[in-house]
Amino acid sequence: MWAELLPVGRFDASGGYRRFAWSAADAECRAWFAEQAAARGLHYEVDRNGNQWAWYGDPDGEDAVVTGSHLDSVPDGGAYDGPLGVVSAFTALDVLRARGLRPDRPLAITNFGDEEGARFGVACVGSRLSAGVLTPDQAAALRDGSGLRMLDAMEAAGQDPSLIGKDEERLARVRAYVELHVEQGRFLADGPHAVGVASAIWPHGRWRFDFHGEANHAGTTRLQDRRDPMLAYAATVLAARKKARTAGALATFGKVSVEPNGTNAIPSLVRGWLDSRAADEATLQALVAAIAEAAFERAEEDGVRAEVVRESWTPVVEFDRPLRDRLAAVLGPDTPVLPTGAGHDAGILSEVIPTAMLFVRNPTGVSHSPAETATEPDCLAGAAALADVLQNLLEA
Ligand code: GLV
Ligand code: MN
Ligand code: MN
Ligand code: MN
Repeated sequence: MWAELLPVGRFDASGGYRRFAWSAADAECRAWFAEQAAARGLHYEVDRNGNQWAWYGDPDGEDAVVTGSHLDSVPDGGAYDGPLGVVSAFTALDVLRARGLRPDRPLAITNFGDEEGARFGVACVGSRLSAGVLTPDQAAALRDGSGLRMLDAMEAAGQDPSLIGKDEERLARVRAYVELHVEQGRFLADGPHAVGVASAIWPHGRWRFDFHGEANHAGTTRLQDRRDPMLAYAATVLAARKKARTAGALATFGKVSVEPNGTNAIPSLVRGWLDSRAADEATLQALVAAIAEAAFERAEEDGVRAEVVRESWTPVVEFDRPLRDRLAAVLGPDTPVLPTGAGHDAGILSEVIPTAMLFVRNPTGVSHSPAETATEPDCLAGAAALADVLQNLLEA
């Protein structure tokens, strides 16, 4: 499975993946998922929000145990973020069948759509729509960098966008969702355990900072006559780093666009996207307010107009306590329990169903980069742990 998936959407120049929602590479990943389901004789379906499901047992049954992750990627992402959870889910099912398990309740494997939000700006769109935390109207407003509406991209990929919305009936039949994921930090890296259990996800969000200035000639416009938005943007990036350090939190400007984007023109618009995360919501809100204040102050000094728009918000997630304790008990008494700053569909779904996560050791901690890695023995240990956890949830 791993070997088949590896070439899909790989960008040769970086060795990273570009598997953006509703793109050709995404379609290939989705076809791979459907083939895996068919090869196992599983009942396959795509829900109203474009999430893929493969059912072992009755697809209309109650009390389902669900596992999976996502197959899309950030720009030049790693091979493991997302796919490891889906490949492990199919592997775990194979293990359970080899053990002769014939559960009374159904097991489903999922691929949630557009987890990374790399193309349309909002992460976890598939699970957000299903959980009802993203409304169809909000989804209708999402566009990619070329101005294409997300709903039109969905439609072009063969998914009827008029169906999107809260999927209460389906989620009401789920007893637990367990997502296995590569760890995206170094909590497990130096310890003896290949697999840990997640405790919480830091609250996080995305904000768009627009700095409107005046385009003019780089060779003829005196410095004192300029209204250059690049300066306010640069000052804001530096302020964000400083204020995040003071707050013990995180702030990242990882995406920027410049208009008209010419070497010999002062920009008319610089647009930067802030990703910020903290251990608690009050700290995060105060931090972003302070960064915005720094942006407005510097913009005013330079005769630039600044605007800050919140594009998404994910509240703090505490994974279901009984479920997470149960996972830790299955894995053994000294299983590491760790929080994370990364968002996941399991975090979104925790609003409506009991969810938990397993993390597989990442020797470097690097993620959202082509350098992301995990060793083969650790991946196999992760799949084995997932099989044990699923068996426990299916049997009792
Ligand atoms: C998703 O990986 C995120 O946390 O940004
Ligand atoms: Mn990711
Ligand atoms: Mn992920
Ligand atoms: Mn993620």
